[in-house]
Amino acid sequence: MTETENKHDEIEALLAENRLFAPPTEFAASARVNSPEIYAEAAADLEGFWAKEAAQLDWFEPWHTVLDWQAPYAKWFDGGKINVSYNCLDRHVAAGRGDRVAFYWEGEPGDTRIITYKDLLEDVSRCANALKELGIQRGDVVAIYMPMIPELAVAMLACARIGAPHTVVFGGFSSASLSDRINDAHAKAVITADGGFRRGAPSGLKVNVDEALQTTPTIEKVLVVKRTGQDVDWVEGRDVWWHDLVPSQPADCPPEHMESEDMLYLLYTSGTTAKPKGILHTTGGYLTGVASTHRLVFDIKDDDVYWAAADIGWVTGHSYIVYGPLANGSTSVLYEGTPDYPAWDRWWDIVEKYKVTILYCAPTAIRAHMKQGPQFAQTHDLSSLRLLGSVGEPINPEAWIWYQKYIGQERCPVVDTWWQTETGMIMISPLPGLTVTKPGSATTPFPGIDADIFDHNGDPVETGGGYLVIKKPWPAMLRGIYGDPERYERTYWARFPGNYFPGDGARRDVDGYYWLMGRVDDVMNVSGHRLSTTEIESALVSHPAVAEAAVVGIPDDLTGEAIFSFVILKADVDGNGDLGAELRQHVGKVIGPIARPKSVMFTPDLPKTRSGKIMRRLLRDIAQNRPLGDTTTLADTSVVEAIRSSSAAASDDE
Ligand code: WTA
Repeated sequence: MTETENKHDEIEALLAENRLFAPPTEFAASARVNSPEIYAEAAADLEGFWAKEAAQLDWFEPWHTVLDWQAPYAKWFDGGKINVSYNCLDRHVAAGRGDRVAFYWEGEPGDTRIITYKDLLEDVSRCANALKELGIQRGDVVAIYMPMIPELAVAMLACARIGAPHTVVFGGFSSASLSDRINDAHAKAVITADGGFRRGAPSGLKVNVDEALQTTPTIEKVLVVKRTGQDVDWVEGRDVWWHDLVPSQPADCPPEHMESEDMLYLLYTSGTTAKPKGILHTTGGYLTGVASTHRLVFDIKDDDVYWAAADIGWVTGHSYIVYGPLANGSTSVLYEGTPDYPAWDRWWDIVEKYKVTILYCAPTAIRAHMKQGPQFAQTHDLSSLRLLGSVGEPINPEAWIWYQKYIGQERCPVVDTWWQTETGMIMISPLPGLTVTKPGSATTPFPGIDADIFDHNGDPVETGGGYLVIKKPWPAMLRGIYGDPERYERTYWARFPGNYFPGDGARRDVDGYYWLMGRVDDVMNVSGHRLSTTEIESALVSHPAVAEAAVVGIPDDLTGEAIFSFVILKADVDGNGDLGAELRQHVGKVIGPIARPKSVMFTPDLPKTRSGKIMRRLLRDIAQNRPLGDTTTLADTSVVEAIRSSSAAASDDE
């Protein structure tokens, strides 16, 4: 492509990936979906399709209107009355499935609990009654700041039961992040724990709550689970131990009949720099969307043991650990800790122990396992697995192949699922019994999702790169940014009026498959070529020495921007000699000279958010030796220092 052809704004598509994986015959034969009609049916009657999905839930009163769309505000199943906790618990128990396991919970130190649907219903009802005793009423917001223990799911479901919206704040966030979110949400109570276990050591949570509550006038009560037994400060009249209040409550609590459009929860996502956005999700449409996608994307069957190895503190945990799986009556694994504790085979030990059949995790975890090498998985029996999923970032084709080969043992389909906190549910994904997959592609929109790729004028790009958009409303979509309609309209609906703009770049190939190319804010402009971060990172990861890579654009006198790359090598590779030059050449060969990084820096780690996303903004600061911007969402602050101290030696600047 010449300079003149590059005046337009689309993102150039450079990477070609030609490997194809058809669903294994046996898998397809017994899959919930193995014929493509579902797509045509949903496209022909979108409202009818979602109404049929919603009808699989139990409603106290039917809706009168499937969809009321006053762009950009949707109401789904208006007039319907429903309770999420009732749908996740009571109806399964009433159907005689109370003895089914809801959660196999495993604590990081190795303690375990098995919780059936009947147990969970009783625990949730007791907790709901306890919340009422603490003065929480329908409509009051409750903040939840907990480790990955069963009480976290119990607390969310108890809130849903009494109609009190929750806002879960990830347990790794600081007291300042917690107080910001509490204040934005006007939360009335906090549910927390003394602490949680992380890599073998107890870490404090209550201590952060105490600190946060210095500046949160709306909080009246703090309910505290004893998890680690560490010492905590106590404020009489405000703080209440869970074990003093909850177990003695009646195990019966009638569920509130909620309006379909009542708020179920707020979940804060950090914009790159600005104040976090309180993403607002409601009740009937949300549950419809997550139950339907969970059932069909993961091909859920009665005998599955499903494990989403994520944290409940982010949206994957809300939709695909708590609400989707429980709405479907599934049996899940819930694990408190990190993948490397006490050793890098902890996950594979859990898969073997509980005979996990479906594993859903993030590319960052897959690449971390890839860095360590396959030997940790190879010492465990993973033959129970039948399906693998990925979420959270674009998955590099080589990481996809590694996952499929060493974890899926070339037997399991891989579903790469694209979605967001804002979308609430999976939007672009294979259906594993039907879709021929391509490593690195999330393939095609879920039935009933009307996605497209636009150029900067808002014209569809048939094949090639551009801006991902969603053209029609979907049931689990966000209903707004809490308290800030103007920001909602500006952030998601102003770029292409009438269409939802998620902020991601994507390209469509000749088969109509979608390839996510990263956030459009991260797109680099090199000599007038708009290049996506994802493709260059995937090219780096396709070199056998590389486990993970991140690229950023930095100002360059000659080319406008130049590509600066950070590379994590596999554990057994030595980064000396000409490896930097070799990697630059490798990228040039795989996707073209324009994409060849100007610099390669070897680093032991990358700055990531707690949900595993690379913080390219900080990498830009590091690459340019600038002071760092806001680091509050950074998972591990020591990483930045580690990168900075490794930089001088390994940089390969021409
Ligand atoms: C990215 C996580 C490529 C994307 C559920 C999106 C992905 C953001 C994928 C949302 C995927 C998530 N392929 N990119 N399969 N899944 N993303 O809100 O940039 O934590 O906009 O929700 O993650 O992140 P969030």
